[in-house]
Amino acid sequence: MILMKKMISEAIEEQVHLMNASAELDAATIASMLEYPPDAAMGDLALPCFKLSKILRNAPVKIAATLAENVKVPALARIEAVNGYLNMFIDGAYLADQILPEVLSKGERYGAPDLGKGKTVVLDYSSPNVAKPFHIGHLGTTVIGHSLKKLHEFAGYKCVGINYLGDWGTQFGKLITAYRLWGDKATVEQGGIDKLVELYVKYHEEAEKDPALNDRARAEFHKLEEGDAENIELWQWFVKISLEEYKKTYAQLGIEFDSYKGESFYTDKMPAQVQKLRDMNLLKIDDGASIVDLEEYGMPPCLILKRDGSTLYPTRDIAAAVYRKETYDFDKAIYVTSAGQSLHFAQWFKVVDMMGYDWADKLVHVPYGTVSINGAKLATRTGNVILLRDLFALAIDKVAAIMEEKNPNLADKEKIAESVGVGAIVFYYLSNNRIRDINFIMEDALSFDGNTGPYVQYTYARTCSVLSKSESYDKNATLTLTAPEETELLKVISRFEETVRDAIDAYEPSIITRYILDLAGAYNRFYHNCSILGAENESVRNTRLALTEAAKTVLGNAFDLICLAKTEKI
Ligand code: ARG
Repeated sequence: MILMKKMISEAIEEQVHLMNASAELDAATIASMLEYPPDAAMGDLALPCFKLSKILRNAPVKIAATLAENVKVPALARIEAVNGYLNMFIDGAYLADQILPEVLSKGERYGAPDLGKGKTVVLDYSSPNVAKPFHIGHLGTTVIGHSLKKLHEFAGYKCVGINYLGDWGTQFGKLITAYRLWGDKATVEQGGIDKLVELYVKYHEEAEKDPALNDRARAEFHKLEEGDAENIELWQWFVKISLEEYKKTYAQLGIEFDSYKGESFYTDKMPAQVQKLRDMNLLKIDDGASIVDLEEYGMPPCLILKRDGSTLYPTRDIAAAVYRKETYDFDKAIYVTSAGQSLHFAQWFKVVDMMGYDWADKLVHVPYGTVSINGAKLATRTGNVILLRDLFALAIDKVAAIMEEKNPNLADKEKIAESVGVGAIVFYYLSNNRIRDINFIMEDALSFDGNTGPYVQYTYARTCSVLSKSESYDKNATLTLTAPEETELLKVISRFEETVRDAIDAYEPSIITRYILDLAGAYNRFYHNCSILGAENESVRNTRLALTEAAKTVLGNAFDLICLAKTEKI
């Protein structure tokens, strides 16, 4: 894989050292200074030389001039010094010779950075709370989490995806109470998770009027904790029903988990950690509760035990982290949740550090912003929250209607509408920096023309259709580039690995989404301006088909990284 920035920065580094032998500047730093100019006339990559003037004690204009004269990189057709900038123009023919054969031979592995060999990453994501609705607030953790898993897998890490189900806690006392009062086996079996949520909602309504219900719920949960056979059976049943429902949504997204060990699994693993905290004198009693004081670190205390001795959310997370370290010996443990939980993670990460676990710095919290929806009114059975399932269903319906108009004779319509509808939601969601709050506008997400999922999936289908019409072409023929759109497409393709690295570094799937838009745009410009199947001669035709196949491969690889289905026909 040629890494353009790497090659260029190494050549610049050499010259910088010739200009000043004692300059402390390495290629990686230079690479981070390189910019993509806003305008093609200013080159494909540029180095703002004012960033070097302090180190080299020289004027940017002079530095740029010297570098322009002396830097030699085979991949560059020309280098210019303009107003203290070093503007570099990539050589299309070089790219064609280097990149195209590589994409075609590596296929699904093209663009994969070699970062993770022998290393393990554990990812904790999605993790809904059982018997509560799986709503659009979970979209972020589910798709960002899975995308981060795919990115790390692509880079060679061994990945363990964990769904840390919220399958324990007082809500089960409430649900058991509600079930005993108003539910029965047949209706729950029939109604599934909707019936459970309904019972849960009814419980809250009734408990408002009759607070004695809360005592009953507490008693039921206590019985569950004590191992009461009937309650255990009910609890397992509720979890099973919920999980079946979640799995339908995961299947639509192409997501599978390696582990579903939820909160309940850690019940017997907490006492040892609490004891360790106590032995290390880290626990303080505050109004009867046990806490770890974090004032020194500018944070409120981390709560470990309630007054009645029961454990809390951080206690469980600490025990789970220790278990995962022992089980998987991770090099990195990633947790994807809404930004609302940032303090929780900062607190217990600190506690793990104070406990002397030397892997505390391997814990990474990846937060994201809130989601709201306007434009479309979604009625849900629970009234005030929007279920992910309903959002997907709406998108699928709308896409099916659009497809019916565009392409009524398409085979396998339903399956494709599902891929495109779900893909539209995923793509729209992942188009923004994860930390930004998102307001969903359905019409925008589903449009086939904008910067949307349907548009990029349509582009992918276009590459498939061109290739299927071409029958075969000579993959070893010499390549002839004749149009600027061909070179532009190659440049975007050549940036893929670097983009994947950036996305991993920043834990930011939107970097891939934006790249997909660049690539789809470059392919479509090429497609509209260059005749492929009717090219003027065999060599040009071969080159354009190879470009199409390369675009298809890289689009497909990038789709895989963000849970977007590769639709061969739309
Ligand atoms: N179940 C939690 C929720 O829905 C998310 C769990 C996140 N993971 C963790 N290890 N705390 O809010």
